[in-house]
Amino acid sequence: MGSLTGIFLDTGRPEEIEKYHALGIIRGVTTNPTILSKDGVTGGWGAIERRSKEIAELIHPLPLSVEVTVNEPEEMLEQARMFAAWAPNINVKIPIHGPEGGTENLQIVHELETKEDIRVNVTAMMSAQQCLLAAMAGATYVSLFGGRVNNMGYDARQEIRRLRALLDAFGSPAKIIVGSTREVLNIIEWFEAGADIVTTVPQLLEPMLVHPYSKETVQMFLSDSAKLVPPQERAARPARLMA
Ligand code: E4P
Repeated sequence: MGSLTGIFLDTGRPEEIEKYHALGIIRGVTTNPTILSKDGVTGGWGAIERRSKEIAELIHPLPLSVEVTVNEPEEMLEQARMFAAWAPNINVKIPIHGPEGGTENLQIVHELETKEDIRVNVTAMMSAQQCLLAAMAGATYVSLFGGRVNNMGYDARQEIRRLRALLDAFGSPAKIIVGSTREVLNIIEWFEAGADIVTTVPQLLEPMLVHPYSKETVQMFLSDSAKLVPPQERAARPARLMA
C-alpha cells in the first residue's frame, strides 16, 4: 500500500529548489555532506546552518533532511537535536551504521523518534532487509540508494518491491525514499516498484518534463495559430475579442 508522497530534490542548491518548487512538482528536499560540499557550502557550522535554514524556509512546510557529520553516538545525538531546533520541517539523516558496521546507530534512531520526538531519515541503505530494521527502530523515512544497488549489479526494483510488501505486511508507517538516481527512468520505475518518495538530482527533472515531440507539436500549433489570427489582431485584449 504505502502512501505515495512524490518527488524530493536531492540537492543543496537553493536556486534549483526554488525553480522546481515554483512549478509545484516537489514534495521535499534531501541533502547529505557530499551534496552540501559539492554545492558550495564552506565555512563550517555557520555555513551549514545558514544553508539548511534557507532551504527549510524556502520549502516550508515540506520536509528537509540534514545529515549528521560524525560517527560518535553522543555527537550524533547532539547534532540531531541542533538540526531539529533549526526549523520545524527539518528531519535528521542518520546512516544505518558506521564505516566499520556496528549497531549503535539504530539505537540513536530509536531514541530520537520515541523519546525526543525528532523525525529521522535512515540513510545509506542498500537492501530491503536493512530498511526493514530501520523501520522497526521507528524511522519516519528509510532511504534505499537505488542507483548504487543497480551499480553493484542488482536490480533496485526487486529490493523496493520486497520492502514495500514487508512494510505493508507489518503495517509500518515508515516512508520508503529511493535515492541515488542515475537516469530519468529511475523516477517512474522506482515509484512503480513501491517507493513513496523518489529523491532525484535536479538535472533529471528537465528531461523528464521536456519531450522533443511535444516541442514539435507545440510548434505546429503556433504556426497554425498564426494562420488563424492575423498579426494585427494578435495583441487584441480578450474583452475586445468578446465584443
Ligand atoms: C539520498 O538521500 C542521498 O542523498 C542520495 O540519493 C545519494 O546518492 P548518490 O549515490 O548519488 O550519492
